[in-house]
Amino acid sequence: MSDAPPEHSQDVLDRPVRLLAIGGSTRPESTTERALAMVAEGARTAGADVEVMSGRELMLPIYDTETSHRAEGARRLVDAVRRADGLVIVSPGYHGAISGLIKNALDYFEDLAADPRPYLHGMAVGCVAVADGWQAAVTTLHQIRQVAHALRGWPTPLGVAVNSGADRLLSADTHDARQLHMVGEQVVQFARMYRLIEGA
Ligand SMILES: Cc1cc2nc3c(=O)[nH]c(=O)nc-3n(C[C@H](O)[C@H](O)[C@H](O)COP(=O)(O)O)c2cc1C
Repeated sequence: MSDAPPEHSQDVLDRPVRLLAIGGSTRPESTTERALAMVAEGARTAGADVEVMSGRELMLPIYDTETSHRAEGARRLVDAVRRADGLVIVSPGYHGAISGLIKNALDYFEDLAADPRPYLHGMAVGCVAVADGWQAAVTTLHQIRQVAHALRGWPTPLGVAVNSGADRLLSADTHDARQLHMVGEQVVQFARMYRLIEGA
């Protein structure tokens, strides 16, 4: 018996995985954005096509339940989620929680409720929080995971809480950087496994 996967499985595995990585803050070259770039790099190394939406690209009007009119940036975000096989969310910890910028962007995922693939169904979600101390980094990471669960996504086994106070530079050879890479890899691995079981 051959160890090679069946032809169909190979075809499923060969198609590139598409990832959407969102996060950052309004501050140019923020620590959060650097963390986002590292997760994206890990995913690309694992073979994914990665689209990044960060910082000011996510400065959207407050999500309005009373209208279906959406700003262009909001439509772009929701369409990018629809195209993606996996998602990465990186938020700074503001007052111990997900920043308003990132949470508002996530609120727009409500527009996916009636899709054939509702919300983040079947999608791996890499979760990362960056704060100036462990307390806010950890509570924010926990919240991102809760949001991913609420949206029917699958948070990856590894999440990362980055303490920017302890590792301000977040340079490429740090423990944080290696973990951020691994989160990107895990999102890609899950997307491939999910394709195999769904035959998608
Ligand atoms: C409005 C605001 C609230 C913040 N609250 C906290 C906090 O509660 N705990 C903490 O450790 N850091 C807090 N910080 C610091 C950020 O988490 C920290 O600068 C982190 O590196 C993310 O910011 P950056 O991506 O812009 O670098 C806060 C920053 C701002 C602007």
